[in-house]
Amino acid sequence: MVVAKSWIVTSRPEGQAALSNFALKEIEVPEPAEGEFGIENLCIAVSPASVVWLNSANPGDVMRGTAIGRVKNSRHAGFKDGDLVQGPLGWTEYLISDGAKKTPVEKLNAPAGEKITSRLHVLGATGVTAYIALFDMGRPRVGDTVLVSAAAGSVGSIVCQLAKRAGCTVIGIAGSAQKCAWLKETVGIDHAIDYKAEDVPARLDALCPGGIDVYFDNVGGKTLEAAIDRLRPGARVVLCGATSQYDGQAQWQGPSNYFSMVPKQAEMRGFHIMHYAARMEETRARLRPLVSSGALKVNEEILRGIEEAPNALVRVLSGANFGSQVVAVRDTDTV
Ligand SMILES: NC(=O)c1ccc[n+]([C@@H]2O[C@H](COP(=O)([O-])OP(=O)(O)OC[C@H]3O[C@@H](n4cnc5c(N)ncnc54)[C@H](OP(=O)(O)O)[C@@H]3O)[C@@H](O)[C@H]2O)c1
Repeated sequence: MVVAKSWIVTSRPEGQAALSNFALKEIEVPEPAEGEFGIENLCIAVSPASVVWLNSANPGDVMRGTAIGRVKNSRHAGFKDGDLVQGPLGWTEYLISDGAKKTPVEKLNAPAGEKITSRLHVLGATGVTAYIALFDMGRPRVGDTVLVSAAAGSVGSIVCQLAKRAGCTVIGIAGSAQKCAWLKETVGIDHAIDYKAEDVPARLDALCPGGIDVYFDNVGGKTLEAAIDRLRPGARVVLCGATSQYDGQAQWQGPSNYFSMVPKQAEMRGFHIMHYAARMEETRARLRPLVSSGALKVNEEILRGIEEAPNALVRVLSGANFGSQVVAVRDTDTV
């Protein structure tokens, strides 16, 4: 038997998610049965999507979370001790899986030298989301003006860089002067707007008087409405996330001005990564050389210890994080 520290959901948030929605408990995990194996959690991705899961969790559940772990105590023919696996391992130090139904996982065969945490962001769901959603749905053309919200985030920062490489003028919206400076000076976008300190509609009017060709939406709400007001004919809006609306409020805001898209024959299309499992590997292969050569700038913020998981979520939701948020559970030498 293994005793594993685990974060248990005690309540769903009323408004913004808070530390009080969780309790840290020590759980006794039994030995794996025949056909099962143990997984020691190594690192957990914490993102705005975590709050979507929290909003639908039941009190007593171990908090859901995508993570990478190492197989231990295996009694499964397909998984041996030491294998790295990725899946919805949750906010716990240790768990049991059968590889399929009971916590489905996939083996992580990373090339030598590749940081495994990159599988939690740029070479994982957020990087693949950025790539497919931008190119399939945003369809950027040389000379287009591309607007990206949550631009310094995990998805947004990759979208910005891919759009720039595609020959577009890129405007990013982010929540601090530090993030805006990073976007302009390190990531290399054309303009950045600090939505916490600046008037977004006024800045958009000044920066793109000709309008927006592609709006990559990670936040929804007022920012989505401001972008819709400034779309050019034939523009594409990619609905990827709505972080400003993830606070459990009953009524989601807007967009009240959607009908202005009709005479412009503009498009608005949702994207969800769950429909793209078949393209994960191919897209990862496209991103990998850009990451390993340093052509794509990747910013990750690691908090150490399972104890930090709720704090990581609160930081992501307030924008206090700077970079893809990862919680390293153990093995600080490999993570
Ligand atoms: N559809 C899909 O398949 C898919 C896949 C992955 C992610 N997503 C969605 O894409 C979005 C971005 O995900 P991510 O993992 O890359 O997260 P992320 O952008 O790295 O998330 C953290 C950032 O969101 C910003 N933020 C937090 N609260 C905000 C608010 N109220 N208004 C505006 N910005 C806020 C903060 O940056 P600032 O300091 O700039 O505010 C924070 O640093 C999320 O909505 C996520 O759910 C969708």
